[in-house]
Amino acid sequence: MTLSGKRILLIISGGIAAYKSLDLIRRLRERGAEVRPVMTAGAQEFVTPLAVGALSSGHVYTDLFSREDEQDVGHIRLARDCDLICVAPATADLMAKMANGLAGDLASTVLLATNKPVLVAPAMNPAMWSHAATRRNVEMLRQDGIRFIGPMSGEMAESNEAGEGRMAEPLQIVAAIEALMDDAPKPLAGRTAIVTSGPTHEPIDPVRYIANRSSGKQGHAIAAHLARLGAQVTLVSGPVTIPDPAGVNVIHVESAREMLDAVTNALPADIAVFVAAVADWRVSASADNKIKKKEGEGPAPLELTENPDILRTIGHHQNRPQLVVGFAAETADVISNAQAKLARKGADFIVANDVSPETGIMGGDRNRVRIVSKDGVEDWPDLSKDETAARLAARIAKFIADWD
Ligand SMILES: Cc1cc2nc3c(=O)[nH]c(=O)nc-3n(C[C@H](O)[C@H](O)[C@H](O)COP(=O)(O)O)c2cc1C
Repeated sequence: MTLSGKRILLIISGGIAAYKSLDLIRRLRERGAEVRPVMTAGAQEFVTPLAVGALSSGHVYTDLFSREDEQDVGHIRLARDCDLICVAPATADLMAKMANGLAGDLASTVLLATNKPVLVAPAMNPAMWSHAATRRNVEMLRQDGIRFIGPMSGEMAESNEAGEGRMAEPLQIVAAIEALMDDAPKPLAGRTAIVTSGPTHEPIDPVRYIANRSSGKQGHAIAAHLARLGAQVTLVSGPVTIPDPAGVNVIHVESAREMLDAVTNALPADIAVFVAAVADWRVSASADNKIKKKEGEGPAPLELTENPDILRTIGHHQNRPQLVVGFAAETADVISNAQAKLARKGADFIVANDVSPETGIMGGDRNRVRIVSKDGVEDWPDLSKDETAARLAARIAKFIADWD
């Protein structure tokens, strides 16, 4: 119950993504939050106050000049009597009102009257999002201390439209709220960290590639937990299907060479954790066109060449981070392979795991790791990948504190 007892004022404005706010209410309540909804007139064209009220189990606020709600100047109470205000979806119109201090309806008045943190999840057509007026308004709101989640890139509700403007998914919004509401100690505040995650894709031709079964779950969770402890995190992610973690700067790459470039560009950093399952080899010369199957000629030969070793490169880099952690996914001789890797790669510790198919670790939700350092081997119990990440982030914070 990560949001237990937290009071979230959810402002729903008039975009097509308003239907996702219904799921957002459920997700917030599942985590223990109390959700008080405010709907603009526009929002009520897309979802009904009845549905919003049923899901939030309470009154839905829609009218600034309501005789009942305003008996005790309700809009000021709404603005103050919460821990955070989330605007999802946030229309271009409502953001323009916020940026200019307009207060012509309940939602904009509450947003002008509040002294609480405000998180905005914009949703609109890509042309509206990239319009100079919206860009100005977003910049103004950022300067005013408003936090943003998204928008994301992808298909629009309108047919044949795609681009940046999709509202973040409800779980991404929840994660951003959790990060803002988290009052845990921040031992890594002021520290920078680079985390790599996921597989790499090494092209054979424009449609085929060499890859592996890494899901990115472990690396993404580590990035999120380092951020939760206050670090400023750059996550360099290979192609994955899981969402970007909240509160982390994510750089998406495809191949090992792109990953190394992104990591090198992110230096200097205090901490580097190399979780990605980087392909050891790539095809020497990937074809510009799809390689055709030729009758009677058998399979096309593939000549492989070695990929750069990201862990070893950074472990011996002139800008080497203070702490370098590598992951070793092995299917045999896990400890001896990890010990050999420790010295060869210039890492401070290696997180070793057995990824034999019967363990279910690759792609699964659980992990059982051993931490190999010059001081010996720590055997960690079977944990969820999130718990493993939390424990590793705490271990990293301790290492940095001991170093100082
Ligand atoms: C079908 C339809 C879909 C719309 N979708 C969006 C949207 O996704 N984002 C947006 O900013 N405006 C969208 N609009 C325009 C807003 O509804 C309009 O600007 C409205 O005045 C917003 O009011 P509000 O900000 O008070 O909720 C849409 C309008 C229609 C008719």
